[in-house]
Amino acid sequence: MYCDCFASGDIMDKNNKQMYINFIELEKTMRAVDIIIKKRDGGELTKEEIEFFIQGFNRGEIPDYQASAWAMAVVLKGMSPQETTDLTMAMAHSGEVLDLSSAVRFAVDKHSTGGVGDKTTLVVAPVVAACGLPVGKMSGRGLGFSGGTLDKLESIPGFRVNLSMEEFLSQLSRIGVVVTGQTADLAPADGKLYALRDVTGTVPSIPLIASSIMSKKIAAGARAIVLDVKVGSGAFMKTLPEAQSLAKLMVEIGRLAGRETIALISDMNQPLGEFVGNALELKEAINTLHDQGSKDFREHCLVVAGEMLALGKHASNVQEGMRMAEKALKDGSAWEKFKAFVAAQGGDPSYIEHPDKLPAAPIVSVIEAPRAGYIQKVDAQRVGEAAVLLGAGRTRKGEPIDPAVGIQVHVKVGDEVRQGEPLFTLHARDQASLDLARGHLVQAIGWNEAPVEVLPLFYGVVRAGE
Ligand code: URA
Repeated sequence: MYCDCFASGDIMDKNNKQMYINFIELEKTMRAVDIIIKKRDGGELTKEEIEFFIQGFNRGEIPDYQASAWAMAVVLKGMSPQETTDLTMAMAHSGEVLDLSSAVRFAVDKHSTGGVGDKTTLVVAPVVAACGLPVGKMSGRGLGFSGGTLDKLESIPGFRVNLSMEEFLSQLSRIGVVVTGQTADLAPADGKLYALRDVTGTVPSIPLIASSIMSKKIAAGARAIVLDVKVGSGAFMKTLPEAQSLAKLMVEIGRLAGRETIALISDMNQPLGEFVGNALELKEAINTLHDQGSKDFREHCLVVAGEMLALGKHASNVQEGMRMAEKALKDGSAWEKFKAFVAAQGGDPSYIEHPDKLPAAPIVSVIEAPRAGYIQKVDAQRVGEAAVLLGAGRTRKGEPIDPAVGIQVHVKVGDEVRQGEPLFTLHARDQASLDLARGHLVQAIGWNEAPVEVLPLFYGVVRAGE
């Protein structure tokens, strides 16, 4: 890629020739080990060093052990905003960068940093598309205790998440909504690096998370991006200052890449909505698309959709966007869009028309409140981990998941509960996993004698230039 700018052949002037020679020398002398050492010692990497490292790793010339050492050095020493931007662009350009303008005039994307019970895409993508703004999105699978949109959609028999570029673009222009998995062509360097980070303890790093997310968003081609940065026990970012720095960094990277980007900061101390687990969350999303379901999840979806519509210039402000989104839920147009989307991706529509046909677990068991009091804590991480113990998530890469199992969460922080009232309903495949999950969940609840304040849904929003 470097050579493009020197490819003027005959007209290459003396200066260009000298730069070219310098570059060739640089490529000859640059070594992965020196870049690792420089980062280990707290140095700031140049754009050329970052590109050299990412391209070499992507081509398989830099082995996993050097990439792991480098990632650990980044975790420990950090990266400047400039380094993070250079890393993002190097990973975005490690494969194709889609141009959606051949399919639609303007498309919007959304991305959550991952949480427990977060089925927002299943609702906001059809809602926003029903309001006339196309949504083209690459989604991921569950990671650790946090769920993934692709796994939830795959609860519908026949639903395909491996669309080709042509299918992606054609569905975006025909239906206005498409959700697929990351292909080998889009930001492949991030795909490789992420898999390595997952098993080398190098996920929790603000620059690595920011560049991983934004490289995929930039490669996927949407002009406007709404980020949902989760904060709390069930999120990667445990504290508000961490979530704020991640949000600011990603918004700045979006601005530098010419994409309109905003970041909401939302609560993930307790699970979002009422259900955790793939088919259970799909059913909850279907309920919300029928304008029913849990209040907190519906409100969360309306805010995200409102921001997407405002950023995509389909609404003059977020409040108007929220009103449009609410209308799409009430008049059934969002539901019709969801059905068209599922059918277009090969899903059997009878399963969403009759959600009772979706996979259901054979054992259903309730955990009751052992005492009366106010709920002080519903630890999202513990609930997510219990869902993994039931089989709703993976403990190893590529493992199959069980779409039927999961947890219904009956209480929210601030609720007053009487002894014997249900706290959780577990949906399990067998007695052994039920017992494990039950033991884990009991400790998810914290009690207080006196009333407890409810948790906010959002802690703020970061916009470019703020
Ligand atoms: N999601 C991503 O895509 N990448 C990360 O590094 C973390 C969450």
